[in-house]
Amino acid sequence: MFKQARSVIVPAIVVALGWSSSVLGAPSQADISKEINATTSAATAVVAGLQGKINGGSLSQAEVEVTSIRAAFRDHFKKIGGSGFDDPADPQLVEIRKLFDEALTHVIDKFRPDMLKGGQDAFVPAFFRAQLLDYFNRKSEGRYQAIVTMRSTELINRDSAPEKVIADKAVLEFVKGLLEKGEVEPQSKAIGTRFVSYWPMKIGEPCAVCHQRSGLEQKVGAFGGATVVVVEAPR
Ligand code: HEC
Repeated sequence: MFKQARSVIVPAIVVALGWSSSVLGAPSQADISKEINATTSAATAVVAGLQGKINGGSLSQAEVEVTSIRAAFRDHFKKIGGSGFDDPADPQLVEIRKLFDEALTHVIDKFRPDMLKGGQDAFVPAFFRAQLLDYFNRKSEGRYQAIVTMRSTELINRDSAPEKVIADKAVLEFVKGLLEKGEVEPQSKAIGTRFVSYWPMKIGEPCAVCHQRSGLEQKVGAFGGATVVVVEAPR
């Protein structure tokens, strides 16, 4: 009877904590990478969701207030990450979420006038994400690094070329091979003390339609670039 009760309680705790492995210890580098990728996707989805109104120049002030943006971010995070953004979690994950919250507020505050003014492709998800990750990378002081890149034959902005955004030779070599293949499954590799992950994206209808305006022909369902996350070993 006692045993039965325990088997009910343990999974409940696991769910409440909100991360899958290493429940009893600190999250692994792989757990952290997964968290950074999920948080990046959730934040990007907020801006992607506003694209129609940004392009039409019809966003209201209320829709770009920090409270609305943060609420939308939390909704997407729950969908993507499977747990609540403000649920209890390991301190390292909490710190990453806090950094993303800060980054989101910083970037939206900075670009709110551009979002409100709007116009065709005035503020695209990829531009927002690059700004967001730039802030996150700077604030995490080398412990984490996240970038988004694409193979050279399918780049809209050459500043996102792998050689431009990845300084480390070994990381670059690993990522370039996967990009050239158009690998659509997530991959990871330990390089020295760093854990490097490759999180591929797929082209959806809105991606294809918008990229075509920049002269890029991509098929729906095809490989659409990748988020690369580097997590240093804990000090
Ligand atoms: C409203 C237009 C728009 C939509 C929607 C959009 N993109 Fe883009 N995307 C762009 C533009 C413009 C750039 C170049 C941004 C810049 O200045 O860096 C870009 C850049 C990128 C990049 C960085 C590499 C590069 O080519 O510069 C990736 C990867 C990317 N998009 C993937 C996607 C995926 C995947 C989707 C859909 C889930 C998507 N995009 C949706 C317009 C869009």
